[in-house]
Amino acid sequence: MSAPLRIGVIGCGIIAPAHVESYQRLESVEVVHACDLVEEKARGLAARYGIGRTSTDAAELFADDSVDAVSICTDHASHAPLAEAALAAGKHVLCEKALAATTEGLDRMMAAHQRRPALVFGGVFQHRFDANIQYLKRLVDRGALGTLLTGAVQVRCLRTPEYYRSDTWRGTWAEEGGAVLINQAIHFIDALCWIMGGVRAVAGAYTNRTHHGVMETEDTATASVRFASGALGTIEATCSSHMDWEYTLSLHGHEGGIDLRRGKGLKVSFRDPAREEEVARVLAAEEDEKVIDAGRSYYGASHPTQIADFVDAVRARRAPFVTAASARHTVDVVLGIYRSSREDRWHELPPSTP
Ligand SMILES: NC(=O)c1ccc[n+]([C@@H]2O[C@H](COP(=O)([O-])OP(=O)(O)OC[C@H]3O[C@@H](n4cnc5c(N)ncnc54)[C@H](O)[C@@H]3O)[C@@H](O)[C@H]2O)c1
Repeated sequence: MSAPLRIGVIGCGIIAPAHVESYQRLESVEVVHACDLVEEKARGLAARYGIGRTSTDAAELFADDSVDAVSICTDHASHAPLAEAALAAGKHVLCEKALAATTEGLDRMMAAHQRRPALVFGGVFQHRFDANIQYLKRLVDRGALGTLLTGAVQVRCLRTPEYYRSDTWRGTWAEEGGAVLINQAIHFIDALCWIMGGVRAVAGAYTNRTHHGVMETEDTATASVRFASGALGTIEATCSSHMDWEYTLSLHGHEGGIDLRRGKGLKVSFRDPAREEEVARVLAAEEDEKVIDAGRSYYGASHPTQIADFVDAVRARRAPFVTAASARHTVDVVLGIYRSSREDRWHELPPSTP
């Protein structure tokens, strides 16, 4: 049995329990340090999960030699400085989405990792581990859809004024970096970009339709996408819909097309009837599971899988399945949509791949 891997969690708010519970399911992994600017939050998480040490300053956690790796579970703008400091202190890092709130933050994180390349640096996009998303990725990669034509995602959810007032960072450019695109829709934008093989340019528009006086960022956005392959796409997202937490993902090639609603095949159509039957059957078979008590159902079931992969990557000294560099690509897409809307022109993405 290898020595236990010891974890520190930074940010003890809503998502932190999903991380702690995922780590605590694994053999020879201990969560040893909980850190939050708010002492009661750090102490609350520690008491709930039997975590030995707490702090209110991440510098204390970075100086804690008993910590091998950290989960960053704070607001978006704090991810970059925390990840930079964690890597400089020799800790492996798993950072929640969105990896950063600005391009400068993303660049700083990548530079910090280049200085410590032996450390594992992963970005959370747990839905990349969902069985149907993985299946779609394999289908596209092996050319089953033929020449890719279009890829599209629609995300509808409801975030009330109370939600935005509940925390000072939400709905701000400085700390959240946006709203519906960078926080809620980013999961499915990531699935789209990952499956389609990356984005070259975006032309987007965002607006605030129902949250005036509540927040400064967007509640509604759309974008046209040019994928690296030459295929085209669209993104549509709103957090002002009463159709709460619905998403559709559509992938179309000249050999076949798939429309997925909430992870299930809604319409599957292939030139080859045998393939159509197989794809429809696989997509219908996967059951949604809610496997962590701490998680909300729309987080899906895959935090434990991603965290198990991160732990294995640290032990095997390999790259995690979702590298920070790959998670960065999706944030580049989102930030590109904001920029395109402000500048009223297509925005070319920096060279990065999902
Ligand atoms: N993957 C998912 O499905 C999922 C779901 C929810 C949230 N998230 C992400 O998790 C992150 C946190 O979201 P949340 O909803 O838990 O937020 P939250 O506001 O509930 O919790 C964040 C906590 O971080 C603390 N914090 C902020 N800066 C800190 C610092 N420098 N040092 C120590 N503590 C600090 C705050 O005091 C707060 O308690 C965000 O990036 C969010 O997008 C991911």
